[in-house]
Amino acid sequence: MSTEKKLPNILICGTPGCGKTQHAARLKELLEFQFFNVSEIVKEKQYYESFDEVYQSYLIDEDRLLDELEGPIAEGGCVIDHHTCDFFPERFFQLVVVLRTNNDILFDRLTERGYNEIKLQENLSAEIMEVVKSSAEDSYAPEVVVELTSNTPEELEANVQRIIQWVGLYMSQDDGDDGDDDGDDVL
Ligand SMILES: Nc1ncnc2c1ncn2[C@@H]1O[C@H](COP(=O)(O)OP(=O)(O)O)[C@@H](O)[C@H]1O
Ligand SMILES: [Mg+2]
Repeated sequence: MSTEKKLPNILICGTPGCGKTQHAARLKELLEFQFFNVSEIVKEKQYYESFDEVYQSYLIDEDRLLDELEGPIAEGGCVIDHHTCDFFPERFFQLVVVLRTNNDILFDRLTERGYNEIKLQENLSAEIMEVVKSSAEDSYAPEVVVELTSNTPEELEANVQRIIQWVGLYMSQDDGDDGDDDGDDVL
């Protein structure tokens, strides 16, 4: 039996503009993981069924996307950057990070990005209504989901350090931990 523990797979999700890609970029500098930006893959490989002109967004062909991700996920050590989290199989991720941003800051970021009024309001309202957070909580076990605030560069750096610490802790945990309470938990 292999004694090598696989690196964990991490999903970074959150309303557009929360800083997913910035977090992924910083993590890329510090972690030897594979990085996947779902929006970029979907566009590049045309893994979409249609484009919504009003919301300026693609309707993703989830099956083709998931087929592409299966191999790397099975290897471990992937960081996936995508705003939603609900269509990934639960087994994909050992950590789901939900980034959160205050609405006035998010307004500025999305305006800067040139979002139209409908898309702007849709996303601001999604953040207020905690849509991504609720979805993550509905889709993953509570111990897998962590909510992190991403308003300032200092918070970004602290979040990145926290994720790296978590990876270290995950890798140091005894593989014999089968999740039950029979005494094989070290921590
Ligand atoms: N924690 C943060 N502090 C300051 N600026 C941030 C932070 N997170 C993101 N930004 C800025 O907000 C904008 C959107 O970030 P980005 O990572 O592209 O968001 P997402 O990938 O979630 O849509 C970028 O201009 C980025 O520099
Ligand atoms: Mg992004």
